[in-house]
Amino acid sequence: MKKNKFSKNWIIKQKRDIYVKKSKLEGYRSRAVYKLQEINDKFKVIKNNILVIDLGAAPGSWSQYISRNFSKSKIISIDLKDIEPITNLVHIKGDFTEEHQKMNIKNYFGKKVDLIVSDMAVNTTGNKSVDSLVTGELCLEAMNFAIEFLNKKGNFISKLFMGSSFNEIVALGKKSFKDVDIFKPPSSRKDSKENFIICRNLR
Ligand SMILES: C[S@@+](CC[C@H](N)C(=O)[O-])C[C@H]1O[C@@H](n2cnc3c(N)ncnc32)[C@H](O)[C@@H]1O
Repeated sequence: MKKNKFSKNWIIKQKRDIYVKKSKLEGYRSRAVYKLQEINDKFKVIKNNILVIDLGAAPGSWSQYISRNFSKSKIISIDLKDIEPITNLVHIKGDFTEEHQKMNIKNYFGKKVDLIVSDMAVNTTGNKSVDSLVTGELCLEAMNFAIEFLNKKGNFISKLFMGSSFNEIVALGKKSFKDVDIFKPPSSRKDSKENFIICRNLR
C-alpha cells in the first residue's frame, strides 16, 4: 500500500475509534493508555509507592496512567522524542539501545526498580514482517535490561509482535520470571499483530 493511502486509512480509523475519543475526554495523550489499564486490571502489576521505568514513553499516556492512579510511585522514562511534563516523572530524550542511556536510567534511582514497562515500537514501515522483527529486537533488549535491573520479584511488561523473535522472547521470559503470560488487550487493534508479554516475579 502506498504511504499516503496508508496514512489516510490511519486517519479514518483514528476518527472512528472509540478509544481515541475516550482518551481525549479523559485527558490522556494516547489511546495506548487503555492497553496498560486493561493489562493492569487483569494482572495487577502496578502498585502504589513503587519505582518504575517506562521505555518508549512518548507521548506519555502510560506514564500519565501510573502517575494519576499510583501517585506515590516514581517514574523515569525514555523516548527518542520529548514529552510534556508529568507529575512524578523524569524524562530522558534519547535512544534506549545506547549503553550510556541505560547507564543514565540505572543511575537515576541508584537502586533496582519494581516495574519496567516497554511500549517501544519503531515507526511502522507498513511492512508487518520488518516492523515485527525490529520491535522484537527492542523487546529482547528491554527484557535483558529488566532481568538485570529489576528487584527480585519485580515485574516486566512489554509490547511484542507475533513474529520471528517471539519464541526466543517467551523462552527467556520463562527462564527468568516465575509467571509469564501473553495477552492481547481488548483495546489493541484486531488487525495488529501486537501482543503484550507480562512477566511477573523475577526469579
Ligand atoms: C507506541 S509509542 C509509545 C506510546 C506510549 N506508551 C504512550 O502511552 O503514550 C512507541 C514509542 O517508542 C519509541 N521508541 C522506539 N524506539 C526507541 C528507542 N530505541 N529508544 C527509545 N524510544 C524508542 C518511539 O519514539 C515511540 O514514541
